[in-house]
Amino acid sequence: MRFLLVFALSLSSSTYAGIDDDISQLLSRFKHGPLEKLTGKKPRLFKLGKQLYEDEILSGNRNISCQTCHHPDAGSSDDLSFSIGEGGVGIGTQRQQLSGVVVRRHSPMIFNLGYDHHDHMFWDGRVSYYKDGHIFQTPAIELNGESPQRPDITAPLKRALDAQAIFPLLSHEEMRGQVGSNEIADAQNDIQAWDKLIQRLKKERPDYIKEFTKIYNIKKQEVNIGHVGAAMGEFMAFEFNSYDTPYDRYLRGDKQALTLQEKQGLKVYLGKGRCIMCHFGPHLDNSTFTNVSVPVFRVKGQGIDLGRYEVTKREKDKFKYKTPGIRNVAITAPYMHNGVFKTLDEVIEHYDDVEVSLNTFIPDTDLQIPYKIPLERVNQQELNNKIYNGMVEPFLFHPRFMSNQEKKDLKVFVERGLLDYKFHSQLGF
Ligand code: HEC
Ligand code: HEC
Repeated sequence: MRFLLVFALSLSSSTYAGIDDDISQLLSRFKHGPLEKLTGKKPRLFKLGKQLYEDEILSGNRNISCQTCHHPDAGSSDDLSFSIGEGGVGIGTQRQQLSGVVVRRHSPMIFNLGYDHHDHMFWDGRVSYYKDGHIFQTPAIELNGESPQRPDITAPLKRALDAQAIFPLLSHEEMRGQVGSNEIADAQNDIQAWDKLIQRLKKERPDYIKEFTKIYNIKKQEVNIGHVGAAMGEFMAFEFNSYDTPYDRYLRGDKQALTLQEKQGLKVYLGKGRCIMCHFGPHLDNSTFTNVSVPVFRVKGQGIDLGRYEVTKREKDKFKYKTPGIRNVAITAPYMHNGVFKTLDEVIEHYDDVEVSLNTFIPDTDLQIPYKIPLERVNQQELNNKIYNGMVEPFLFHPRFMSNQEKKDLKVFVERGLLDYKFHSQLGF
């Protein structure tokens, strides 16, 4: 009996040891490493940023905040395929459309966007920042280039994330409200809309303005939308900083941090599944835009989403989207720029054979529930062919042929191995 026990123990530990060796061999082929904690937090700016992030006063009709669509209880997203903008009521899957307009893309999770690594924002990267030279490229020309027309606004912005934060305020669907419904919606241009928001804050929240004058050591008249962006950026950067997943701890040397099944899943991630080809490095992304033949799904009546092409107008950028880092995806469903996949199983099935998925996938009908308008799966052969042939990575054209066990292991790794326990209070495991 004792012999058997010793035998069993040594067998299991040797299995563990073997798999760790396999993993370190696979990892040595890639630029990898744990994500280090973001440092340099400015507590006062962070606190003010949190207040602004949660405050509906920044929306034209005072009925929606950033938090509505990037909620801590919804993994910094909103649990919906497509966000419901101002005029909707409620949070997460409980959100009801009412008079709200449905936004054409899925609200992305916003983990770890505060690092310099992240120089492009939005699925199509339409806000970008080049730190060397402090140069922005955004939909507002006044902020762009080496000598922007409004250097007073760009001065406080220190990251792409800070600049990104002032754009939802301009979107009529997201926060600004429809023309005729409030003074910000009626502003003639972007700069005027931002100015009117600052005027509103001066009138109704002098405490915010005063805090800005203290933090930046400036006069009341000098406070502008750039400061608001910087504060919200600071809040998002540090509030949604996630560097302590079991995977990160494993890479830091704690070999017990992942279970045997998670390690088996990691092997699939690094090997047969080829996930590492795009979700690599400390950020688990490839810092670029990629077409992975996601099935077309849209709000009925909307045009076809062309992805990165909409910014660059380069043919080769059609159907490319920013490759997201994938920490905490256990709590951020549904997935992709159009929220077409409801589960991680569906995501993994997709990657197992992208051609079959692109041509045959049928989205779960539950995704429709919060909306009055229909969501539509567009499955046209000609369009699918364009998307499929637009892929660049040769291996995507071949099925992965993962076994059911490999898919299960991969799912467990992605679901639990990449989950920072700080953010998962609502899950049962
Ligand atoms: C109505 C829902 C909604 C509201 C309100 C909203 N967002 Fe978003 N957010 C989205 C959607 C949808 C996208 C993706 C849009 C796209 O890529 O075209 C997005 C994108 C982002 C991104 C880019 C993430 C990335 O990885 O590129 C950040 C950061 C962000 N929002 C922060 C904010 C902040 C800050 C506010 C408040 C000022 C805010 N959002 C308000 C829905 C919303
Ligand atoms: C060729 C590059 C590439 C490969 C290989 C790849 N991904 Fe992705 N991944 C992306 C891109 C790009 C997106 C966003 C696509 C979109 O929205 O259209 C994405 C999105 C995701 C998402 C959704 C994240 C979110 O916030 O919606 C998950 C989860 C994911 N990938 C997991 C995986 C897994 C698991 C594998 C391996 C089986 C894998 N990926 C392989 C590029 C890749």
